[in-house]
Amino acid sequence: EQSARELVSSLIASIPDFPEPGVTFRDLTPVFASGPALHALGTSLTEPFAGRFDVIGGVEARGFLIAGAASAICGAGVLTVRKAGKLPRAVLREDYALEYGTAALEVHEGELPPGSRVLIVDDVLATGGTVGAAARLVERAGWQVAGISVALELEGLGGREALGDRYEVFSLLQY
Ligand code: PRP
Ligand code: HPA
Repeated sequence: EQSARELVSSLIASIPDFPEPGVTFRDLTPVFASGPALHALGTSLTEPFAGRFDVIGGVEARGFLIAGAASAICGAGVLTVRKAGKLPRAVLREDYALEYGTAALEVHEGELPPGSRVLIVDDVLATGGTVGAAARLVERAGWQVAGISVALELEGLGGREALGDRYEVFSLLQY
């Protein structure tokens, strides 16, 4: 049987100079388009944290896909960590820098009970700006970060170092 690692890596495409010159973009859309690969991601990103989280924190947009798949597999709900300006009630906001550009994430205050353990999932860990902002939001909201789990870690961009030793970080693949 093909391992999750082999299945997912066989479906990741590398595109030079996207979205700007000098960036090699790792495209996971073929992974999302494959039922077995998406299912394997949902399983393999949550298994290392089994019994240690209450809710899956999905980061818009690609993190939502993995969070939804993981939710269907393990039964935990999804905290939607959204790009700024989308959530209608009172929010907490964190600005962050991307490999290309800047952005902001928001969560609804009081969305989860105090102390809820949130496993943050996303497709790619690059500079760590995105999941770092998500983790700060979880803590500011009064919840706990159970861990950070991603499909692909781009090791050259220093995301793991930027996150420090404060969080347990799991990546299925490292490029
Ligand atoms: C991408 C990717 C991660 C983030 C990784 O999302 O899905 O969330 O960048 O980069 P970082 O570690 O340097 O923060 P993007 O902001 O392009 O949004 P999308 O999911 O809406 O496409
Ligand atoms: N691929 C997908 N998402 C990303 C990348 C990448 O190479 N870099 C930062 N976010």
